[in-house]
Amino acid sequence: MNPPQSRDPNRVIVFDTTLRDGEQSPGASMNLGEKLEVARTLEALGVDVIEAGFPVASPDDFAAVKTIAEQSQRAIICGLARSLKGDIERAAEAVKPAGSRGRVHIFLATSAIHRQFKLNKVKEEIVKQARESVAYARTLCDDIEFSPEDASRTEPDFLAEVVQAVIDAGARTVNIPDTVGYAYPEDYANLISYLRKNVRGIDDVVISVHCHNDLGLAVANSLAAVRAGARQVECTINGIGERAGNCSLEEVVMAMRVRKDQFPGITTGIVSQHLYGASRLLQSITGLPLQRNKAIVGDNAFAHESGIHQHGMMKNPETYEIMTPKSVGVPDTNMVLGKHSGRAALGKRLEQLGLAVEDADLNKVFDAFKILADKKKEMYDGDLIALVEEVVRGTTASVWRLDYLHTASASGESAGSGAMATATVRLVKDGKSKTDAATGDGPVHAVVAAINRICGVDGLVEDYRLRAVTKGGDAQGEVSIRASVRGVTIGGKGLSTDIVHASALAYLDALNRASLQVERLDYRTAAS
Ligand code: KIV
Ligand code: ZN
Repeated sequence: MNPPQSRDPNRVIVFDTTLRDGEQSPGASMNLGEKLEVARTLEALGVDVIEAGFPVASPDDFAAVKTIAEQSQRAIICGLARSLKGDIERAAEAVKPAGSRGRVHIFLATSAIHRQFKLNKVKEEIVKQARESVAYARTLCDDIEFSPEDASRTEPDFLAEVVQAVIDAGARTVNIPDTVGYAYPEDYANLISYLRKNVRGIDDVVISVHCHNDLGLAVANSLAAVRAGARQVECTINGIGERAGNCSLEEVVMAMRVRKDQFPGITTGIVSQHLYGASRLLQSITGLPLQRNKAIVGDNAFAHESGIHQHGMMKNPETYEIMTPKSVGVPDTNMVLGKHSGRAALGKRLEQLGLAVEDADLNKVFDAFKILADKKKEMYDGDLIALVEEVVRGTTASVWRLDYLHTASASGESAGSGAMATATVRLVKDGKSKTDAATGDGPVHAVVAAINRICGVDGLVEDYRLRAVTKGGDAQGEVSIRASVRGVTIGGKGLSTDIVHASALAYLDALNRASLQVERLDYRTAAS
């Protein structure tokens, strides 16, 4: 990335915080392997900055930022830090392997309510701390971003004073967060204009925006800010993030692209054809399903149900479509590969779908592809995306692994829906297997009960969804569940041509994720 002075003034920097703010949302914890997979996908997608984590938060967070910094190829890798020496040192150390692409992002709250109740500090102390922390960070790393937390609820003149102080101390990017999602587009744009008028040298640094979605305005606020001169947008895939989430990357990028009339000359580095693949990968890794009507990447985003719409679409797709499914990578429903396709053809197609799979994983995906191609007559892009998700998750998130599953109705026949059923399950963990059986009101209930007995937990399935990945009687079924297990509510996914098998995999996925989350919480509590 160029230093700010020589930047293209029309280029909007896409700063992705899926791995930091996104990962803070309930149920979105990721392990190291999963974070690396997301980071690779983000680079393939063309994001400019990856906020990879909060290094001081735990050794796992530190290791994730450092490993992503080591393995990244192109993007700026950023680590978050409070305005404290120890945090800044940890963040600088974590991003160091990225060399000149390392960034430290410091935040300190500035609003009256945060000053009084969170920090117990007066204005002068905040300005001093902000200035000193940026100056100190500059001795460790060239690229410093500063965020006055809760900026949108801060008195504008005081905000300008803080922003002036951090620019004078050497910050290259000043981020103006709408931390609690309170801003309104016009006011937020006015705030950016106000800062541009009242802070010396602000046009020599990058003005960034970071909007939360508490009122459903995160994308609208970010777009308004870009029109007022902001040139970095902080966002997440699928809009995941604290509470109601962050500005959604796919929505903000496509809005600027489709509405060029409102954003003349504005560009981003995003390869829009990779948006759908990135969205699917994240859903799969976190187990957080997306609502069907989610803009750009939801299942219904390009579905036309009414006859009038279908008729118009046949005459001219532009009657009801403002962008093509292809432009955002929604998979083609045409058959793409078959059982005779080779590894190279598979790798090429995955690349076209924006799924950056490592060589070792590609071998596993290819093996799974061959097995599935024997079962299924036709293979669609959706099947390939689901396979990658399955293999990547299977290699990174497994603690307990499903080794054997048999279900039968109470009368001993294969279990049908609604019948009392028995399930026999064998799981493997650390090379040791355990088998148990249980009964339930139907096969899925029985499977969950058997898994609970083996793992010694008392988990419950709270939400259950089944989706056919592609069309046809031999389509793979993808089960997404939300389960309450080990005191956390968490998502899980499973994929199989057999839905009871897919359900078992989904529940086990949730259970494994819950264990990971509980271990992390235990660590954070012990360390704080
Ligand atoms: O929402 C927020 O204010 C943040 C900061 C750390 C930038 O996430
Ligand atoms: Zn945030």
